[in-house]
Amino acid sequence: MSQQGPAFDVNAMTLTRWVLAQQRTAPAATGDLTQLLNSIQTAVKAIQSAVRKAGIAKLHGISGDTNVQGEQVKKLDVLSNDLFINMLKSSFTTCLLVSEENDNVIQVETERRGKYIVCFDPLDGSSNIDCLVSVGSIFAIYKKHSDGEPSVADALRPGRELVAAGYALYGSATMMVLSLGTGRGAHGFMYDPSIGEFILTDPSMKIPEKGNIYSINEGYAAEWEPGLKKYVEEKKNPSSGKAYGARYVGSMVADVHRTIKYGGIFMYPATKSAPNGKLRLLYECNPMSFIVTEAGGVASNGTIPILDIEPETIHQRAPCYLGSKKDVEELLKHLK
Ligand code: AHG
Ligand code: MN
Ligand code: MN
Repeated sequence: MSQQGPAFDVNAMTLTRWVLAQQRTAPAATGDLTQLLNSIQTAVKAIQSAVRKAGIAKLHGISGDTNVQGEQVKKLDVLSNDLFINMLKSSFTTCLLVSEENDNVIQVETERRGKYIVCFDPLDGSSNIDCLVSVGSIFAIYKKHSDGEPSVADALRPGRELVAAGYALYGSATMMVLSLGTGRGAHGFMYDPSIGEFILTDPSMKIPEKGNIYSINEGYAAEWEPGLKKYVEEKKNPSSGKAYGARYVGSMVADVHRTIKYGGIFMYPATKSAPNGKLRLLYECNPMSFIVTEAGGVASNGTIPILDIEPETIHQRAPCYLGSKKDVEELLKHLK
């Protein structure tokens, strides 16, 4: 007689298991990327715990720092950055790191070097931290192809060349979305705090071909180019059909995740005072565009696909328009 127990998944597809399975399908794989993604997973688990104010005041440390007693609590973005750096270096799989929080590239010590380069925004949406609105982390992974010492040039590659990219969203639940590129899709893993694992809940995410939400900081409308003004105006006052809804969290990860799930368009445009917009190419625009593209959406700087931009400096910015194929295409016609 079969026993009827409570529903409990005894064969869950965890993120670690999923990545391992992907590794097995690539005969030449060494397991380094698996190890690297595990280290990011650890950083993300610790950040989500800190974001949720674990231990309230004593944001407990797994960063390798020996003593937090009496130490001033680090701001969350600094803590997140330290976590990313420490976990990535100790994975023995990276040689060069680019962080939003560091002016220069970080070279990994020779003894701990591997072949990967990681660009990351350890905590995205920092202005939302203190009011408990969703924040996230973003990462982009390249493989080093040049010989010799790792240098800035190794990180200045177009997004097309990414080996993998992803983000973590610390929202009403925590989710990690990951893509290994080349049409293999974008996959969402929900964090299950009861077992401390990310579980595959959103395999092969597909962004609707057209949505009904536009997402942009409308406070800067006076600085927009005429085509963008007209596009947004048409979304509010369509000649036929219903007006689009407006949503803008102010954390790119949250705004883009919603755009993938519900469809529509996210825009951080060029403005008169910021001709390249605000978002950074290497660790915001590129990884998010990589995911959106893998989910069947479109990402453009207004002229060319974001993923085709040849970066010149590590912290350079790019205007960013991404989302449902039809919505972005419609916008692009206005911008021309
Ligand atoms: P960060 O917190 O990493 O500096 O990024 C904030 C970014 C991004 O998350 C968001 O889309 C954008 O800033 C919001 O900027 P505005 O306040 O100018 O709209
Ligand atoms: Mn950011
Ligand atoms: Mn940030």
